[in-house]
Amino acid sequence: MTQVIRTAAELQEKVAGWKRSGILVGVVPTMGALHDGHLSLARAARAQSDRVIVTIFVNPKQFNNPEDLTKYPRTEAQDLALLEAEGVDVLFAPQPEEVYPEGFATTVSVAGVSEMLEGAKRPGHFDGVATVVSKLFGMTQAGRAFFGEKDWQQVQVVQRLVRDLNIPIKIIPCPTIREADGLAMSSRNVRLTAQDRSRAPALPNAMQHAAQSIRSGVPIAQALEEATAMIVAAGFGEVEYLELRDAETLREVSDLSRPVRLLAAAWLGDVRLIDNIDV
Ligand code: PAJ
Repeated sequence: MTQVIRTAAELQEKVAGWKRSGILVGVVPTMGALHDGHLSLARAARAQSDRVIVTIFVNPKQFNNPEDLTKYPRTEAQDLALLEAEGVDVLFAPQPEEVYPEGFATTVSVAGVSEMLEGAKRPGHFDGVATVVSKLFGMTQAGRAFFGEKDWQQVQVVQRLVRDLNIPIKIIPCPTIREADGLAMSSRNVRLTAQDRSRAPALPNAMQHAAQSIRSGVPIAQALEEATAMIVAAGFGEVEYLELRDAETLREVSDLSRPVRLLAAAWLGDVRLIDNIDV
């Protein structure tokens, strides 16, 4: 049985009991509308921890667009059934007032890695993520936290955060889960029209093409330009960025001497898709 907990006090009491018996807690932070990508994190947590807490909280502080926040899908009953099937011990699903009570005044802000790409396009987004994740780590007292590589920059921000603040938790990055046609699973995919859904794999396909070109020696700028043209030709709107970056710092790179990552954000209709791959 998955126990549903709504308050920080009840969660902390539950966790305190576990900690007294030396139990290793794993946490999977989510915003709900769960799909196989999220469930793969729950499975990894199940395999690598004694108890698993999945959190569902649509964090208002990380939405820079109010419409995106109101449109965000909320499917808790269905989510709970999926978590039951994965053997998750606790679903922590608090209301906003529980997470940000009257008088809440702290913001956690990670400089550098938060500032480019998603951070530049979505001002305040990573402050919202870093703040809520810090709170969730504190409330769950977890020893391990599982994050998807789907949000590569988020993983780097969280890694920096726990190192900088000496938070005693191990961050476990987990691979991106994709649909059969290559589209990375995302809670936002359900908002694509049927026609846009059929166009969507052009993003990962173009990225694979660029990665292949770069590996085989095509100049980086040329490979990225070609891939951007492919994405636009497939019917996408604006390509916000398609960039080859240092995999950890997300700084610009001019060669392949350090591990790099190819990252993209592009609009398809009124849905913003992000993706990233190894090169
Ligand atoms: P959310 O978008 O719900 O994602 C929750 C976790 O699932 C994140 O770690 C994300 O990277 C992972 N995930 C999403 N799609 C995935 C996929 N296709 N394959 C593998 N993992 C995937 O990310 C957030 O919520 C929030 O920012 C949060 C960390 C919960 C803070 O509010």
